[in-house]
This record gives sequence, C-alpha cells and structure tokens, in this order.
Amino acid sequence: MVASEAMPFAKTGGLADVVSALPRALVRLGHAVDVVIPRYRGITAGDRVARVAVPLGTSVTDADIYAVTSAGVRTLFVDHPAYFDRECLYGVGNEDYADNAARFAFLARAAVEWAAAAGERYAVVHAHDWQTGLVPLLLRHTMAGAAAFRGVPAIFTIHNLAYQGLFETSWLPRLGLEWELLHVDAIEFWGRISFLKAGIVFGSRITTVSPQYAREIQTPEFGFGFDGILRSRSAHLSGILNGIDYDEWDPARDRHLPVPYDASRLDGKDAAKRLVLELVGLPADDEGRRRPLVGMISRLVDQKGFDLLADLGDELPRLDASFVLLGSGERRYEDVWRNLAARHPQRIAVRIGFDEAMAHRIEAGADVFLMPSRFEPCGLNQMYSLRYGTVPVVCATGGLCDTVRNVDPATGEGTGFTFGDCSPPALLAALRRALDAYRHRPVWRRIQAAGMAQDFSWESSARQYAALYERAYNK
Ligand code: ADP
Ligand code: GLC
Repeated sequence: MVASEAMPFAKTGGLADVVSALPRALVRLGHAVDVVIPRYRGITAGDRVARVAVPLGTSVTDADIYAVTSAGVRTLFVDHPAYFDRECLYGVGNEDYADNAARFAFLARAAVEWAAAAGERYAVVHAHDWQTGLVPLLLRHTMAGAAAFRGVPAIFTIHNLAYQGLFETSWLPRLGLEWELLHVDAIEFWGRISFLKAGIVFGSRITTVSPQYAREIQTPEFGFGFDGILRSRSAHLSGILNGIDYDEWDPARDRHLPVPYDASRLDGKDAAKRLVLELVGLPADDEGRRRPLVGMISRLVDQKGFDLLADLGDELPRLDASFVLLGSGERRYEDVWRNLAARHPQRIAVRIGFDEAMAHRIEAGADVFLMPSRFEPCGLNQMYSLRYGTVPVVCATGGLCDTVRNVDPATGEGTGFTFGDCSPPALLAALRRALDAYRHRPVWRRIQAAGMAQDFSWESSARQYAALYERAYNK
C-alpha cells in the first residue's frame, strides 16, 4: 500500500486512520501488508533497510528506506529530507508547497522502485488518493514490462475527489512523464495534468470509501468534473465503507477518558462531559451539565458545511445547547468561530488546532455530534460518535447516508438525525429535532443504545478489499 499519511506517524484527516487500520485488519485475515509513506519531519521510528535509486526527470536520486513493524504490518518510510523534512505534510496555512508534484511523484516512484527491487513478490499494489495517483500509471504504463509487476493489479482508492493533484503541464518532463500522457484519455485535465486522474485511468480497479459516494461521484453534482471519467470506468468502480478502529476508538478502553464506559454504564460519559466543559471553559455547574453539549471535530473547510454554520452564526447560541468546536483549516472559518465564542463565552467554545486527545474527549463528552458536510466520501467521526453514544446530526450525503439512520418521528427508531437538503434552515431544523429528543430521556437512551450497538469494525471492509484484490489478481 502506498499513501501520504498513516497513523501513528502522520495525520491530517481520515486517510491516516484508514491507512493504519485497513492493513492491520488484512493481516488479521492472514494477508501480509507493507505500507509505504514519506519519512516526514518528526518520524523517528524504524531502521534503515535499503536504498533505492529514484529517477525523476533527468536526475536520479538515492532515497533511504526505513522500516518498522507493528501489529504485523511493516511500514516503510521513504527518506528524502529536501522533500519531506518540512513543517507540514502538504503546505503551510492555505498554501500548498509549490513542489508537491515533485514530492509525491518521488514518493510514487520510490515505492515502485522498492517494490521492483525488494525481492518481495507483491501480489497487489494499492494506492490512496491523488498523492499516489502516479503509482498505477507507473505500474501499468511506465514500468509495465518489469518482471516484478507482471499480472500485478494496481488498486486505486479515492478518499476525496475534491483534491485532484492538478499541476501545470510543464511538470511533465520534470517528472519524467512523456508528453503523450497529456491526452484526455490519460492524465490531461482541462489544460493541466491531474495525479488523481492518473490513478483513475490507470487503476485496475477503483474504489471509494462508501457505496453511496461511489454512486454520487458519477453525477455532475458530486463529480467535480470527473463524473464522465468515472462513469466510463464504472464497471471497475465500487464503494467499500470504511471501518473504524475499535482499538483506538472505543469508550470502554479509551485512555484519554477519565472513566471508561459502555452502553450498560453511561456514567463515564457524564464524567467526560464535565471534563470537556472544564477544559474548554464552558459552565460545568448543574445547569451547564444539564444543557446538551454539541460537539464538532473537523477540518474547517467548505466540504464540512462550515459555510452553513457561518450563516447560522448567532442562531446557534439561542438554542438550549452549548457548542464545542475543535478544528483547524481555513482562516475565515477560524475567525467566524473565534468571534462567536468571544460573543457567547457561556455557550460556545473553540479550540483551533489539531489535538488527538481532545478529539477523543469531545467524542465522549458531547451529547450530540454535528457534521453538516456538503459531501462526505465516508466520514469517520459520525461512526466514532455512534460508538460513544453521541448522537450524530448529519447531512444525508455520501458515507453519512450509509452510516446514520434518521430517527423516525413516529417510532423513535434510528441512530441519528439527518437532513436531505444541505441548507442552513434544514440544518437548524435537524438540530432542533435532536435537542427535543434529548429532553425525553427514554427516547434519547434508545437512540444512543441503537447507535452504540452498531458494528463498524474493519473486518467486513477488509474482507471486501481482499475479495477485490483477488478478483483483480486472477483476471
Ligand atoms: P476527513 O478525512 O475528511 O477530514 P474524516 O471524518 O474521515 O474526515 O476523518 C477525520 C479524522 O481526523 C478523524 O479521526 C478526526 O477525529 C480527526 N480530526 C479532524 N480534525 C481534528 C482536529 N482538529 N484535532 C484532532 N483530530 C481531528
Ligand atoms: C477523506 C474523506 C472522508 C473519509 C476519509 C477516509 O478525507 O473526506 O470522508 O472518511 O477520507 O477515507
């Protein structure tokens, strides 16, 4: 597997969770998996095991490969300090690094060179997102003749179609790619080149991270200009829902919580709520703890519906609820939330930054988890929330649609509150429905229990990947 992030080494979003948990689940099924990621600043794990020569354009650069094995999965780190020993993974603030094309072409090429030279006989190569979109191209085009790759399928998984790896065509020679690839049937995309398109066009099979998103991306509304290309590959495109890693996300054994809990003893959830209120400076007296706490943990970008929330602004603290947001991303959304918190310090608290421990505590301490994404390939936080008895309020899109069952007003059956039309009034109405239900303890307990009983473990997703690998391999 080749990717640009993996827990516990480097993470900006759900991709890192998946690239860590899926290999471990495959190992539990009896497979052997190596994962290749960059050796970013701060990664100290691993010993040097090899050196590969990486051709890129007219130059060939040596890269050291470091390796560490944990839970049966070997992670290989591609070392190239000029590219990867940097403050951030992809760029600083809202600015991508100007040489991302070279950085991730280097990762792809180094991974493939390792695979060709390592003496391992890999049966399948699986690449994730645009950063590794060149892996299928290298395998099935540039190095198609190499003995190591004869009959080896290249699987490509789209975690987010909004990030397309678009670069000027002048990069082609610098990346060692032929001009003939600048073609609508290859990697050309509206006058530029797209690494994502390379993965889609050259992948033997393409997957995305939920069945609903697999359907949506073939429509103009969610296709970001790729819907036609994806429709043309629909026979080889499928959706496999992500799992969640219960070793990391389970309130019964979460080291970040003051008191563990499960569906049969929820008092640990009250303790987590109190802790969160205290940590973020919201009232933690009887009144403060009685009020439902709405949690959000997110990248602060349009995808996650932060424009809808910005429109609602001061409506939110008028509800009988408190809000806690943990996130980082676009400056304008950070500012909106900092201002809201400054105006309503009794009701709204904001933590700007990336804080793993705090994320776990909010998942546990909140009563409601708000995730009004405009599109969501899978989404992990709503699944964590279900496990933590934190009732999700989500837009019915992509993976949110596949994982949260709207509470039926007639029967009270369901696991969360969904809204179909992604608009500020629809969001507010869904939030109100959740807060109303919260006041009816038996109803609320039933919704919590239904969510906590859901099983999103990786095993069944990993089985689906293994079956897909086998189909692609035997073809
Ligand atoms: P995406 O990958 O699109 O950001 P997901 O829901 O798949 O969305 O995954 C997000 C992951 O990143 C979750 O594990 C979530 O807890 C984590 N996360 C997002 N923002 C933060 C943050 N500010 N601090 C800690 N964890 C965060
Ligand atoms: C992406 C998507 C998110 C998904 C994650 C892991 O970042 O935005 O929906 O859960 O990848 O697949």
